[in-house]
Amino acid sequence: MHNILVLNGPNLNLLGTRQPEVYGHTTLKMIQDLCVAHGQSVGLTVTCAQSNHEGVLIDAIHDARGKQAGIVLNAGAFTHTSVALMDAISSAQVPAVEVHLSNIHAREAFRHKSFIAPVALGQICGFGAQGYVMALDALAVHLGDGVAG
Ligand code: DQA
Repeated sequence: MHNILVLNGPNLNLLGTRQPEVYGHTTLKMIQDLCVAHGQSVGLTVTCAQSNHEGVLIDAIHDARGKQAGIVLNAGAFTHTSVALMDAISSAQVPAVEVHLSNIHAREAFRHKSFIAPVALGQICGFGAQGYVMALDALAVHLGDGVAG
């Protein structure tokens, strides 16, 4: 079993009630439960965390080094602004998959830029909560335990 951190950033604690027309009705707790359950089915032990604070997210990424085999990261709005989060991912040397519930490329221009994408294994966006499941599958394949397509 590999350990995986599913890390969510600012405002994602409000999922379920936050702009449901954009982000759906699924709560963060539902997403986290889904990640733990799906992780078990593909040989991943999933730990979940969320913070509205950039430094706390950076600390969580640093802590993942040597403990977690991968990170699923939805950095929320910090995606579009944070060189510090980009540097944290680069420095931690833990493979990360970037996830967004919404299709950031179909939204406002400022959301098209991601500081995470250049240092991530890949980016999954636009598939709602299912994107987290897809990210876990991608990490399972990357780590050699999943069924390659
Ligand atoms: C988001 C997209 C971001 O642009 C936004 O700031 C969020 C959520 C998503 O999951 O679609 O907070 O990361």
